Amino acid sequence: MPLPTTARVVRLATRPDGLPAPEHFALAEEPLPAPGPGEVLVRNKAFLVFPGLRTLIGGGGTGLPVPHIAPGDALFGPALGEVLAAPADGPLRPGDLVTHLSGWRDRLVADAAHFSPVPADFPDPLALLSSPAGYGGLTRTAGLRPGDVVLVTGAAGGVGSLAGQIARLLGAGRVIGTTRSPAKAKRLTAELGYDAALVPGERPLAEQLAEAAPDGVDVVLDLVGGDQLTAAVNAARRGARIAVVGALAGQLDPTTPGGDAPVVIDAFRVCTLGLTLRGFTGVDHPELNAEWQEHLAGWLRAGEITFPLTSVTGIDQAPHALVRLFTGDTFGATVVEL
Ligand SMILES: NC(=O)c1ccc[n+]([C@@H]2O[C@H](COP(=O)([O-])OP(=O)(O)OC[C@H]3O[C@@H](n4cnc5c(N)ncnc54)[C@H](OP(=O)(O)O)[C@@H]3O)[C@@H](O)[C@H]2O)c1
Repeated sequence: MPLPTTARVVRLATRPDGLPAPEHFALAEEPLPAPGPGEVLVRNKAFLVFPGLRTLIGGGGTGLPVPHIAPGDALFGPALGEVLAAPADGPLRPGDLVTHLSGWRDRLVADAAHFSPVPADFPDPLALLSSPAGYGGLTRTAGLRPGDVVLVTGAAGGVGSLAGQIARLLGAGRVIGTTRSPAKAKRLTAELGYDAALVPGERPLAEQLAEAAPDGVDVVLDLVGGDQLTAAVNAARRGARIAVVGALAGQLDPTTPGGDAPVVIDAFRVCTLGLTLRGFTGVDHPELNAEWQEHLAGWLRAGEITFPLTSVTGIDQAPHALVRLFTGDTFGATVVEL
């Protein structure tokens, strides 16, 4: 079979004023070079669409682990692909599955070091698109202990839909989640083992938290920030650990570039209750990904965890999938399958 000579790539066409919409992206068919020495040709099977792209496109934020995306730049993100051609003297073979960070295109040629092989017996390779942030925030930042009452804000998204299950598997006593959608709240308790799912828009979150966790919460995995983080701090009990893993409320705010999320915190409570509030970022934990993937494989194999996802088909649909994150029209991780 002759090797393909073109690739379809999604690039940012113009920087939006506010949240990106499909017209801010361009899908182009571009020449694909033949793989040179040490290079591998991969056909992407799927890639992740994630809210961090909004910040990178919006130009907001400081200290980000990757550069902003400028007009003309290709989008990127975690991807699962299949090797089409690889050097005979390397470890990869045609047909092997690999993960890498060059999503938003259907094919690519890159140095073999750009790709991580998927173990042949991995139970659900698509689940390797998941972020290790939930596991990392609970184990590294919050130091989850058996019996803890855990609150996950933004529980129905890519990170939160796994985080509740992980908290349960790590021995949490009670797991509470938030989502802005009553329909998703039902799914959190019915499908993902959340004991309670709170919808902040329905009633004051403080009131709902007081009912769901009358003695307070021990651990918060915060993915939203804003009023939800304010309420979480107010519901924290003595010695609680609050892991700030995301900031969706600021990130997806159409009136800002998506890189700041100021929030009111009751410093008096932090002091008198000995609370810990600490950020999580993957770059501080280079060992985490391998550990997460090992646990994920074991839990998937044992049928103890699921990788909830909203699947969208076709690279041309990727910009639409990103927009669905802003409208909340997704459940679990958002994945484009090719
Ligand atoms: N620190 C790290 O290493 C790390 C790694 C991965 C992700 N993150 C961060 O973690 C957060 C969650 O990521 P994710 O991949 O799980 O995203 P996600 O939850 O899949 O993002 C989409 C969801 O965000 C919610 N949402 C949309 N607009 C919102 C708004 N204005 N306010 C509050 N919620 C809103 C919606 O959920 P509902 O409809 O259910 O409300 C929507 O379904 C993000 O901030 C992300 O950048 C951090």
